[in-house]
Amino acid sequence: MDHFTYKGGNLHAEDVSLAEIAAQVGTPFYCYSAATLTRHYRLFTEALSPLPHLVCFAIKSLSNVAVLKLLGDLGAGMDVVSIGEYLRARAAGVPGNRIVFSGVGKTRNEMHQALQGGIRQFNVESEPEMRALSDVAVSLGVRAPIAIRVNPDVDARTHEKIATGKKENKFGIPISRAREVYAEAARLPGLEVVGVDVHIGSQLTELSPFEAAFTLVRELTLQLRADGHAITRLDLGGGLGIPYTRSNEAPPLPNDYGAMVKQVLGDLGAEIEIEPGRLISGNSGVLVSQVIYVKHGEGRDFLILDAAMNDLVRPSMYGAHHDILAVREPPAGAPSQPYDVVGPVCETGDTFARARELPLFAEGDLVAFRSAGAYGAVMASEYNTRPLVPEVLVARDHFAVIRARPSYDEILKRDSIPPWL
Ligand code: LLP
Repeated sequence: MDHFTYKGGNLHAEDVSLAEIAAQVGTPFYCYSAATLTRHYRLFTEALSPLPHLVCFAIKSLSNVAVLKLLGDLGAGMDVVSIGEYLRARAAGVPGNRIVFSGVGKTRNEMHQALQGGIRQFNVESEPEMRALSDVAVSLGVRAPIAIRVNPDVDARTHEKIATGKKENKFGIPISRAREVYAEAARLPGLEVVGVDVHIGSQLTELSPFEAAFTLVRELTLQLRADGHAITRLDLGGGLGIPYTRSNEAPPLPNDYGAMVKQVLGDLGAEIEIEPGRLISGNSGVLVSQVIYVKHGEGRDFLILDAAMNDLVRPSMYGAHHDILAVREPPAGAPSQPYDVVGPVCETGDTFARARELPLFAEGDLVAFRSAGAYGAVMASEYNTRPLVPEVLVARDHFAVIRARPSYDEILKRDSIPPWL
């Protein structure tokens, strides 16, 4: 459920008309609903209660500092994968002891900064990384709390580019070697082993791959405890999928996920950490764009929008589907036709949808891409020197621009011409 609905014939974010925002901010823009973000975060905390737990929002899915502040103020922790994301979390007021640092290629510099700034735990993904972290911690005179990310060799049954739990993927340490790697970790002077970490992929639409992975984590935890390690935290990663179409797609709900977690891991007395991104942010955001032209091609009509693949890359990168709505509600029984929905970028890949059945559109009409809150703005680029799209946050009947559209001056100023040219 989200808070993007038609009211009085116009699509609203909560109680604010998207057309009104478009008039003030210009198009394209991303718009997020505070009520939806809040609701999705709470679904997870309720689903895991009464187990001790921390919901660490995966910043990579939506990293605007205002959104992080909203979630942080509700008590959320954060999952970061770069020192840049770490700094965002801190700028949003999230204390270091609620931040977990994931990622396969943390640099010594990043480790240094995070250890100095305060961190809940590093999710370590390889032996060289483990040794580097120990060195950095020793140089600072501290011990770095770690969980080791294990690779359970489980098929997440999702898009191949976002599956991470198979042995051929670059992530984690093979679970078969975990005991020997934990033994080495315990010997390293700069580390303090606190947990086990696993993340098998994103946009999972079934519980069974999670269950298979968590069952292996359970067995491993018992073995590691028997080996003498104090495993007090289990980080289960993110990955729960969302419905991208409103037809028959029904991925499991946080409550189903929580019940399964309790069943598989609930008796271990460990604190559960999860790292959801998409389920919190995905359906909390839309991308609003304007029709520039309707172009009649041969055997097809193109809807040419002012948003493009640089603003929302998911359709072009993963063949992802995003529902497209008319911002002005089409009357019941209004005619429709198939459109190829495209952006202005000079690539055929700049296509959002082919032969999509949509209400009739004319120049100047507004459209909204649903489910664009996750991996939308964060994956945007300035390809074709198109300014990054602004972000807007709505709460009830008011809105604020939470990232402004850069001016062309600002964009051009970032380049410099060397004196010898
Ligand atoms: N934790 C780790 C270690 C991750 O790598 C990810 C996502 C998450 C948590 C959050 O997963 P989520 O709950 O959002 O599924 N750009 C792609 C998705 C990439 C996901 C990368 N890792 C897309 O647009 O579908």
